[in-house]
Amino acid sequence: MKIVLAYSGGLDTSVILKLLKEKLSAEVITVTVDVGQPEDFTAIEEKALKLGAIKHYTIDVKEEFARDYIFKAIKANALYDNLYPLSTALSRPLIASKVVEVALREDAEAIAHGCTGKGNDQIRFDIAIKTLAPHIKIIAPVRDWGLSREWEIEYAIKHGIPVKSKVYSIDENLWGRSIEGGVLEDPTVEPPEEVFSWTVNPNRAPEEPQYIDISFEKGVPVAINDVKLKPVELIRQLNQIAGSHGVGRVDMIENRVIGLKSREVYEVPGALTLITAHKDLERLILTKRTLDFKEIIDSEWAKLVYQGLWFEPLREALDSFIETIESMVTGVVRVKLHRGSISVVGRSSPYALYDYELISYFKSIFDQKLSIGFIELYGLQAMKAYRHWLNK
Ligand code: ARG
Repeated sequence: MKIVLAYSGGLDTSVILKLLKEKLSAEVITVTVDVGQPEDFTAIEEKALKLGAIKHYTIDVKEEFARDYIFKAIKANALYDNLYPLSTALSRPLIASKVVEVALREDAEAIAHGCTGKGNDQIRFDIAIKTLAPHIKIIAPVRDWGLSREWEIEYAIKHGIPVKSKVYSIDENLWGRSIEGGVLEDPTVEPPEEVFSWTVNPNRAPEEPQYIDISFEKGVPVAINDVKLKPVELIRQLNQIAGSHGVGRVDMIENRVIGLKSREVYEVPGALTLITAHKDLERLILTKRTLDFKEIIDSEWAKLVYQGLWFEPLREALDSFIETIESMVTGVVRVKLHRGSISVVGRSSPYALYDYELISYFKSIFDQKLSIGFIELYGLQAMKAYRHWLNK
């Protein structure tokens, strides 16, 4: 039996690699997908082969992740429950599709992954795999065979799998870093400083604010301070700059798909900066009706992606709607980063609906008398109804 294993190099997937060989006498092919996590991919490959994988693939999808996933999320101002920029959630369908590609190429019977039965990631992986390759079996040993952490550690020691003491469950990629577990499981406890690695403590961030100009073209960021950057580089730079000002820490109670509430901590400096800037630019350019309606679409988009429904046709349909609107979202946003806060302090666009000539207190071409008749008709029904209600 040939099995393709989504392999991170961590304890769970290393134990799984050995178990698949031992229990199912499987030939295991490991796949590590590089979505921007700070890992030594050569070391991961060596580890996989040493533990008995017959072949290993490292697939760099950073560019694709930025262009086809993160940029869509920016256009949709994607924040699940208004707080979480979906860093982990967005990466899952892409990782799954690459693992499926390998499974098809290698003519494997099954795909294995390290998800537990409690989280969202099992849903995202399983649905993606079942959608793209319905004939392939899915094995999630931690969930399906009920592996406990203690059992895994014991098994790892017995089989020469290196065990590092691990307090938190961390998932990291270009769009953000999520931290779960340890003391964070007590929602009354403030996240200790040690959980953070992308952001400085806002109290220790520079006293001086930093201003940056972010240029957008058709809804996606293309330059910082007028320097054109490729997607991956642009996101990396913003993570670094915003993180150095203590921007991007999120601490929330999250509603998981399977109904559990969990306490999640995220570091998402670039994501929050870009979404804040993008949203502000939209407010300058889009009509009020469009903005109001798009908020509903945006929130549905974030829910679908969070819930593992990337391949749901509705997501593509929402993307077409968003794409149409974003064709106008071009301009520059000036953002101020200071001790944990992001504020937009300036914006401009060739498509701005804001019109100085109309709104200015100083000199205006706006004919104020037009308002008199407008108010009469605009309030007509309400004024009339009020009389009826009084005499009821
Ligand atoms: N709660 C987040 C989500 O569902 C993050 C999950 C992080 N995964 C992990 N293995 N630590 O998208």
